[in-house]
Amino acid sequence: MANKTLLRTEKLLTLLSDGKFHSGQSIAEELEVSRTAIWKLVQKIQDWQITVYSVRGRGYQIPGGLALIKKTPIEHALAANNKLFKELILLSSIDSTSTYLAQDWRRNPGNGRVCIAEHQSAGRGRKGRPWISPFGANLYFSIGVELPLGLSALGGLSLAVGICLCQTLNQLTNEPVKIKWPNDLLMDDKKLAGILVEASGDTTDSSFLNIGVGINWDMQSEQGKSIDQPWANLKCNLKRKISRTDILAKILVNLDKALVDYLNFGFSNLVELWPQLSAMYQKEVSIHLPNTIVHGKEVGVEDNGALRVEMDGSVKVFHSGEVSLRKKLWAKDD
Ligand code: BTN
Repeated sequence: MANKTLLRTEKLLTLLSDGKFHSGQSIAEELEVSRTAIWKLVQKIQDWQITVYSVRGRGYQIPGGLALIKKTPIEHALAANNKLFKELILLSSIDSTSTYLAQDWRRNPGNGRVCIAEHQSAGRGRKGRPWISPFGANLYFSIGVELPLGLSALGGLSLAVGICLCQTLNQLTNEPVKIKWPNDLLMDDKKLAGILVEASGDTTDSSFLNIGVGINWDMQSEQGKSIDQPWANLKCNLKRKISRTDILAKILVNLDKALVDYLNFGFSNLVELWPQLSAMYQKEVSIHLPNTIVHGKEVGVEDNGALRVEMDGSVKVFHSGEVSLRKKLWAKDD
């Protein structure tokens, strides 16, 4: 989107974020464009899956308003605590925060960027799946950091990120948040969040990490209808009211610390936390491998983040694969 159009779209969103009706005329005056241009901008924000009422004689309204993410409080929280994250970028809409950081890093290598977006038009999940990203409904962010660790030392990193997110969210929710190896956060066995870690670099000395996180916040069933698995929202499971801005600030402060800890101590210090945080610890699971499915009992993780599964009396380790709870094989009237 051209810069001018983006700025106008952002102004329009800020105006309508109060949840009140604004006449086409008053918006046109405020944005210094024609009423037809306003109509086009409204179409644009509807493409971002925002509901906008348009009522003859009253104007435009976003029902319920929008609590937009604010940059300054997050910057303040980071300024007080942070070691790795140097720059915060908050965007209304982007194809994908992870793609943005990867491209940005190629153009302008540098360390410690965080990119947050209200909407992603091409959000990416693992294994090439799309990540549904309606405007303002969830949290979408990516972190780009360069660490003095070779790729071979990153085995447990995505689990360390998952553990950090899990612990942060567990302080806020009344339902426990658990990890499904390697990168999903579940609540009540439904997907609450996903982590996408992309790394490049050399095997021994340094790597550039692009850590993307999507957390479902208040997504409507209609918005998430194409998601092919049960999913949960965070907002309705909070112990107390807290804004997306404050949650992001807490998460980023904690992730900064978790990455520094990983740098200093690796994953082995976190292995003992796995039993209480894993959604499948000591449960019968199926591991979906490229050409086969194997079954066993999940019995923990290794120092390098691999999953330990007990099978036929011995423990096997898995470095990749999709894990699911094993379906019961007996008939329903047993
Ligand atoms: C998964 O569970 O498949 C991982 C999902 C990761 C989604 C996040 S949203 C922010 C960042 N930008 C993306 O395009 N993907 C990640």
